[in-house]
Amino acid sequence: MTDDRLRMTPGPTEVPAAVRERMSEPTPNPDVEPEFFEFYRTLTDKLEAVYGDDDIAILGGEGILGLEAAIASLVEPGDRVLCIANGLYGEGFADFVEMYDGEAVICDGPWTAPLDLEAIESRLEDGSFDVATMVHCETPTGVRNDIGPVLDVLEEHDVISVVDAVSSLGGVPVPTDRIDVCLGASQKCFSAPPGLTVCSISDRAWAKIESVETNGLYTDLEPWRDAADEEWFPYTHLSSNLYGLETAIDLLLEEGLETVFERHEAAATRCRRRAADLGLSLYPDDARSSPTVTALAVDGDAGQLQESMADDHDIVLATGLGDLEDDVLRIGHMGHNARIDRVDRTMDALEAVLE
Ligand SMILES: Cc1ncc(COP(=O)(O)O)c(C=O)c1O
Repeated sequence: MTDDRLRMTPGPTEVPAAVRERMSEPTPNPDVEPEFFEFYRTLTDKLEAVYGDDDIAILGGEGILGLEAAIASLVEPGDRVLCIANGLYGEGFADFVEMYDGEAVICDGPWTAPLDLEAIESRLEDGSFDVATMVHCETPTGVRNDIGPVLDVLEEHDVISVVDAVSSLGGVPVPTDRIDVCLGASQKCFSAPPGLTVCSISDRAWAKIESVETNGLYTDLEPWRDAADEEWFPYTHLSSNLYGLETAIDLLLEEGLETVFERHEAAATRCRRRAADLGLSLYPDDARSSPTVTALAVDGDAGQLQESMADDHDIVLATGLGDLEDDVLRIGHMGHNARIDRVDRTMDALEAVLE
């Protein structure tokens, strides 16, 4: 691995030097030093600027832990959960629901189609759901779902919403104030290393969490409600990662969220224009593509293109996932990597590889 390797994957993203330096600070004992809890409270306050006013819980573990913890903490045996899906992560929520003995009612459609609002409304009609899950940006297809109308109908039916915004939060606007449990992770648009998952939790979600007897500790969100005030974490926290996350959030807030969103839009637009110039089309289409990741339809060539980009140009890209592994090449332009010069270096290299 060389120093000028460019990692344009849809997470983990490049970690800026300031974040890496911050992580090399002396390691505190998060269990016994009161200053650490002070620091933790400051960090959760800063995260509220990104996640909205709900309580924040930062768990030691990467994104999947947040997804599992949300289900483990909100769902008790027999609960019916509407799993709204048009992609890999949306479908994956149903596995967690069943793992925790809930009843997953899947409202899914093709990965290329938008969320089906009519189908969602008709499922909700019987009024028997406590919780619904969905994904804001389906990273494997690069699709950003229009979740506003879905949140409207969930509100009408008084259903708790769980939204995976792992690959969009901090890069594009997310209607966090209307989401009960909003899930993000350190290594995507925040550009901190993998290792932390951040959940925002509304009062009504807390009420449900408190009513559920969760088996397990690592996946239980309940102890996090008062962790900072009671100065007790359920396990030794990842202090260096938390330091890094604070610096990453400082960078984001100093730049300003609106400016950051514009930077993501500009990087995505550049990437897609250059892809079109190369005769490449988007999977599935431009209108719904997330400003954080571009998925290109490459018809069986994804692995070979990925290899040539790494070997010949020192640029790391991602292929598709699941059935799309060979047919989709993904370029992440999120977080620190949402910059025109990085997109241009990537697309210059892709042009050379295609030639
Ligand atoms: C939409 C989405 N949700 C969840 C995850 C899981 O995150 P992690 O890889 O940090 O476990 C990912 C990772 O790529 C993702 O893209």
